[in-house]
Amino acid sequence: MRKGLLFATAALSAALLTTATACSSSSNSGSGDGGSAGGKKPKIGVILPDSKSSVRWETADRTYLAAAFKAAGVDYDIQNAEGDKQAFQTIADQMITGGVNVLVIVNLDSGTGKAVLDKAKAQGVATIDYDRLTLGGSAQYYVSFDNTQVGKLQGQGLTKCLSDMGAKNPVVAELNGSPTDNNATLFANGYNSVLDPLYASGEYTKGPNQSVPDWDNAQAQTIFEQMYTSQPNINGVLAANDGLANSAIAVLRKNHRNGQVPITGQDATVQGLQNILAGDQCMTVYKAVKKEADAAAALAVELAGGKKSAPATTVHDPTGNRDVPAVLLAPAAIFKENVQDVVTDGYVTKAELCTGEYADLCTKAGIK
Ligand code: GAL
Repeated sequence: MRKGLLFATAALSAALLTTATACSSSSNSGSGDGGSAGGKKPKIGVILPDSKSSVRWETADRTYLAAAFKAAGVDYDIQNAEGDKQAFQTIADQMITGGVNVLVIVNLDSGTGKAVLDKAKAQGVATIDYDRLTLGGSAQYYVSFDNTQVGKLQGQGLTKCLSDMGAKNPVVAELNGSPTDNNATLFANGYNSVLDPLYASGEYTKGPNQSVPDWDNAQAQTIFEQMYTSQPNINGVLAANDGLANSAIAVLRKNHRNGQVPITGQDATVQGLQNILAGDQCMTVYKAVKKEADAAAALAVELAGGKKSAPATTVHDPTGNRDVPAVLLAPAAIFKENVQDVVTDGYVTKAELCTGEYADLCTKAGIK
């Protein structure tokens, strides 16, 4: 069934938009070799948030976006704010002054995201919220995954792993994503829709529950260390992405409890998949970033050419009280049994996954 889900993602994104086919390498900026609308070649600016909250932004999003823009024959400038809100705004000013026709952002928080989007709009620059919705913002489009479904898959994954271990009335801790990231709210809405009824019925006991500022993995380890000290009888951890999961696993390893406490994650990173193969992490959520990048690039190219696409759905922004045209892609749950799906999809290679001590674990899991 899960394999079908991965291919459903492909069909869904193909149906939503014509997607630019990716081809070559990534770079901070570049120029496509295609023609241009009305003489001047369209130029698209992209601001990525950081390179620490998740490796995805540099290992996947940048690469896939650059390839899609190059294939579409447009100029592009992809930069990373490295978690610095002032840098985020300075990069945006430079891109707008530099004449981008479309600005694509992954906001660091909705306040600075809104400021940037409003400046772009005032200069006639089209805008797209990529992956994260800017609450109260003015982005013309939002391209992401169904992030509430991401959280539901995490909640369901944790209950599966706890049930497989025969856990009785487990104490569940939660390491939530950044409070400044709307996605973290949506993830939590999803997993709490699964866990809250279990707390209410008494089947599960609600343990320590904290959000991790800026998804900072070092802070996550300190937070979980404090959780574990206060409640060493934690039986399961809902961690909102693979980086937070790895921080909690480091604490459990120190206490020789790794592998005995199921932990969730997200992003299907090499580290997350290796932790799953080692039995230290229960599951991760795979979001086919190539589909997300291709959909965003296709939208951006259409906007740059003065066309207005009509994505299939909208999401409601409660802060701005606005329905935002959106492309929402389907996530997939990944356990030890279907790690191969991520390799087959080309998101992670066997070579980077099955290194050193993981070579044997890959063989046992039948990774090819
Ligand atoms: C979220 C994103 C996730 C996760 C997190 C950390 O907004 O949707 O993929 O990686 O950021 O960067």
